[in-house]
Amino acid sequence: MEMNIINNTIQFVKEKLDGAEAGHDWFHIERVWKLSRYLQKREGGDLLVIELAALLHDIADPKFHDGDETVATRIATEFLSEQKVEQEILEKVIFILKNMSFKNRNDAPKDLPLELKIVQDADRLDAIGAIGIARTFNFGGYKNNLMYDPAIEPQLHQSKEDYKKSNGTTINHFYEKLLLLKDLLNTGAAKEIAEHRHQFMLLFLAEFYKEWNVTF
Ligand code: ADP
Ligand code: NI
Repeated sequence: MEMNIINNTIQFVKEKLDGAEAGHDWFHIERVWKLSRYLQKREGGDLLVIELAALLHDIADPKFHDGDETVATRIATEFLSEQKVEQEILEKVIFILKNMSFKNRNDAPKDLPLELKIVQDADRLDAIGAIGIARTFNFGGYKNNLMYDPAIEPQLHQSKEDYKKSNGTTINHFYEKLLLLKDLLNTGAAKEIAEHRHQFMLLFLAEFYKEWNVTF
């Protein structure tokens, strides 16, 4: 039964994300799903809730829906009801989808459930390291942003509105988000993985500036 729900969800998400920007496509979902299962093994939590939330978490990213944050929960609720998922499970999954985003982090309730912490950590781990670098440059290219401009300072976006409006450079996104993620992780297991990925980004940036400035 549960196996069927997971397989149906995989099929559904693959169809929905067909043609998505490469940083938010099925392969991103697949990595977050695998990372979530690994973190669940280490940290506990309800596996079905975690798997469903991981698979559905980017089903309709507001970035790609004119900022509309209600599309994702509407689509997910409809899908889970069709699958006859228990109401209690459905509500837990929808709560995660509503509250896990980086840009909403200041509005999210305190005392988050373990299942949310795990999927959020998995999503954040996929935003750092080599994959994080690749996704970020892909997204910047998709937006036609500059890779780097030494004259544009990073902005510490305090509000969600600031963050969404940002059309800064891709290198600045490292200072505005990616390098902050390590300290925002919830679980010990995710923090362990993040350490190496964080160091790798620092190494990348050092190399980037060295080549940019053509210093020998
Ligand atoms: P969340 O969905 O957790 O609120 P985002 O969708 O804003 O977070 O970010 C997900 C990923 O998309 C980032 O880790 C990054 O790779 C990419 N991204 C988002 N905003 C930018 C940006 N302004 N420049 C480059 N990459 C970005
Ligand atoms: Ni994601």
